[in-house]
Amino acid sequence: MAFLTLTNLTYAYPNGFTAVENVTMSFEKGESVAIVGQNGAGKTTTVKLINGLLKPTEGDVMIDGWNTKDYTTAQISRKVGYVFQNPDDQIFNSTVYKEIEFGPKQQGLSLDEVKERVLHAAELVGVTKFLEENPYDLPYSLRKMVTIAAVIAMNTDVIILDEPTAGQDYPTMIRLGAIIKHLNEQGKTVITITHDMEFVVNHFEHVIVMANKRKIADGNKRDIFWDHETLEKSMLKQPHISRLSHSLKFGNNVLTIDEIVDELKEAKKNGHAEKERYEVVV
Ligand SMILES: Nc1ncnc2c1ncn2[C@@H]1O[C@H](COP(=O)(O)OP(=O)(O)OP(=O)(O)O)[C@@H](O)[C@H]1O
Ligand SMILES: [Mg+2]
Repeated sequence: MAFLTLTNLTYAYPNGFTAVENVTMSFEKGESVAIVGQNGAGKTTTVKLINGLLKPTEGDVMIDGWNTKDYTTAQISRKVGYVFQNPDDQIFNSTVYKEIEFGPKQQGLSLDEVKERVLHAAELVGVTKFLEENPYDLPYSLRKMVTIAAVIAMNTDVIILDEPTAGQDYPTMIRLGAIIKHLNEQGKTVITITHDMEFVVNHFEHVIVMANKRKIADGNKRDIFWDHETLEKSMLKQPHISRLSHSLKFGNNVLTIDEIVDELKEAKKNGHAEKERYEVVV
């Protein structure tokens, strides 16, 4: 059985609105998975069900042998860390240091251990020089990094990042990719919600697509991003390089610049193909 499983999960908010319907998915220990899909598809609701902020209306969430129905949100937070979509829903301390130390402090660690966790997490996300600042004096993109550090500092087996890429500049996107890789190398399961398909291509193999409360696809990124029916249903855009490859009538599997360069080299080897492709471009 996978480390984390969601089985026939349905969730209705207290106002009666059903946001997630009959969703089943699973995650292995140490893998990184991207969840993508249009606004309102039910992505955030699904991950809040994983960390126990919400409890299923129907179905079960099992984490490392625990059914979330049998545990409090505080207990589950020792296994699953959730970085909120909106950092302002998460931040409540007056300095970055206090924000990051809050979680580990609750875990009953020694002061030295807490400090080590804070400094390590701050360094990883690049907020070390802001530790004594009020998080609310920092711009959105840095506030988001502070919330990521606060969750990393808790050292949970599962880490959920809800839209870490929103509003981030290019160097921060590179840093986010490196953070996810680092967490994987430590054996953590990282679940990331994002609207940035280039980021997905560059950092994930396993992709889950949600549309209209349901999971509509689950598999390898190459299959997902060349499945036009799924892309259309979920209103997702193919990555730029794949679209270029599609227009050039190259093979139906290209996702990256390196791969399209290989296709071009191959075309060059077979002289006639090069001419045909040139004609497609002009
Ligand atoms: N507290 C709530 N009460 C009632 N309905 C809600 C509540 N929170 C979210 N919803 C609704 O549930 C649906 C799914 O919301 P959810 O936030 O899970 O979507 P999402 O896929 O994360 O979207 P986005 O990409 O915009 O973040 C939406 O229609 C939303 O309006
Ligand atoms: Mg969301």
